[in-house]
Amino acid sequence: MTEPTPGPTPAPAVTLAPASSADLPSFREAFEAVAAERRWIGTEAPIDWTERGPRFEATVADPAWFVVLAKDGERVVGWVSCHDEGGGPVSLGMGIVDGFRSQGLGTQLLAAAIGWARHRGAHKVALEAWPTNARAIGLYEKFGFEVEGRYRRHWRRNDGSLWDAVSMGLVLDEDAPGGPPPGDS
Ligand SMILES: CC(C)(COP(=O)(O)OP(=O)(O)OC[C@H]1O[C@@H](n2cnc3c(N)ncnc32)[C@H](O)[C@@H]1OP(=O)(O)O)[C@@H](O)C(=O)NCCC(=O)NCCS
Repeated sequence: MTEPTPGPTPAPAVTLAPASSADLPSFREAFEAVAAERRWIGTEAPIDWTERGPRFEATVADPAWFVVLAKDGERVVGWVSCHDEGGGPVSLGMGIVDGFRSQGLGTQLLAAAIGWARHRGAHKVALEAWPTNARAIGLYEKFGFEVEGRYRRHWRRNDGSLWDAVSMGLVLDEDAPGGPPPGDS
């Protein structure tokens, strides 16, 4: 008798939840893992958690921040964080650990973040990405973000190299008057 062919691996039971200070140890592992890859996010491992740990605690308690985690059980496997900077746009950063990418989690996290920004009355969401990060840029474009510019040789990496970055934006308020007014000359 032959063994039955196994079916497709079930999708992991990942849930989204607002971050709390209890998530710090697991968030730290997830963030450190993505930072250790050195090719997706700005932060590179090793990370100084004496500074970043208290910042995480302060952030999750601050209503000007929105931090939602993707969790496989209790394990943090992804995050999105947004900061409403008042007069400026909401700034956004996100990451998903290897093994949980390209399964729709980024779509869910980004939808939640944009929903929060809209609900807050923000006029725009802005972010930076490496120009080679096609998956991230594709995800942002799916939600209507546009590439607004390219910063040349902008960020110094730990190995001394200088990486370009693209700035992307999603305008949420097209109705307020634009500006600045024309100059005198
Ligand atoms: C970038 C990232 C957040 C995307 O999340 P994800 O869960 O992998 O993406 P999803 O499965 O939700 O796919 C979202 C969309 O990306 C786009 N996309 C995926 N792979 C792509 C590729 N190779 N090229 C272009 N677009 C791509 C598609 O539009 C896709 O939507 P669709 O499946 O409905 O067509 C995630 O891969 C990640 O964390 N990567 C490492 C860290 C990182 O890059 N962070 C962002 C820094 S700017």
